[in-house]
Amino acid sequence: MNFKNSVVLLTGASSGIGYQLAKDLSLEGARLALISRRTEILESLVNQIGGQSEIKYYKCDVTVKDEVHNTIELIIKDFGNIDIAILNSGVSYRSSVLNYNSSEAETTFNTNVFGQIYFIEELIPDFIKNKKGYIVGISSLADGKGFPKSGFYAASKAAVTIILESLRIELKKYNVKVITVKPGFVRTAMTDKNEFEMPFLMDVEKGSKIIIKGLKKDKRIIEFPWQTTIGAKILRMIPTKLFEALASKELKPRTK
Ligand SMILES: NC(=O)c1ccc[n+]([C@@H]2O[C@H](COP(=O)([O-])OP(=O)(O)OC[C@H]3O[C@@H](n4cnc5c(N)ncnc54)[C@H](OP(=O)(O)O)[C@@H]3O)[C@@H](O)[C@H]2O)c1
Repeated sequence: MNFKNSVVLLTGASSGIGYQLAKDLSLEGARLALISRRTEILESLVNQIGGQSEIKYYKCDVTVKDEVHNTIELIIKDFGNIDIAILNSGVSYRSSVLNYNSSEAETTFNTNVFGQIYFIEELIPDFIKNKKGYIVGISSLADGKGFPKSGFYAASKAAVTIILESLRIELKKYNVKVITVKPGFVRTAMTDKNEFEMPFLMDVEKGSKIIIKGLKKDKRIIEFPWQTTIGAKILRMIPTKLFEALASKELKPRTK
């Protein structure tokens, strides 16, 4: 992947990983279409980094299909085309079974899963026609197991990982590349609210650098940090009984 002068659509650019990616990609010379609902943040980000390359921002709720359609039309009008889509918008809730709540499930799936599918649906026809394009979906290392209090989130990321894997195979013959990003814990607004100790919590600046390095190499899967990657793989392999015993332990409170 080459960012110089490429048009990069980036969702979830108002916070955390997306915010840092926007800053770093502007330094790479990408032409950026930044998307989120909080445009006041995007506006000040564009003012901050706009000198480096061509950057525009768009207000869009990724859970609303029509808004996604209109946003893509606007971006194509402004930039002429889209080369790379980084689908990063996401939400996470931790809730106990005592507050079992379908509206959290709906928001989680609508944002994390449909918030990617709506963009992919819009982008695929031109990508296939032009025989080029990149779809980068942000999943998570939490995509492999049913962690307590995070079932909806883990399931939404499992869905994302599987959908992207299937797309990667199908789109290969059209020269459209699909990349899955699976971070462990990264210090952002999403993890700031966690009250438990997060192993190998990584600063967002480092996370963004790893993602960009992996994208430049066209890696199929970008997973980090390595310690959590290995831990996640082990958890997938151990017997269910052992996983349940480990996962039911109280998490260590966070010391900050
Ligand atoms: N931080 C981690 O440890 C971690 C680990 C693994 C995976 N991830 C994944 O990485 C991605 C980014 O997470 P983060 O940690 O950077 O979270 P964050 O700081 O909370 O940022 C989330 C971003 O998603 C956007 N967003 C949420 N709902 C949206 C909606 N309906 N429409 C448009 N945009 C929406 C937010 O923008 P607005 O609110 O302005 O719309 C914000 O820019 C997520 O997919 C997350 O699941 C994070």
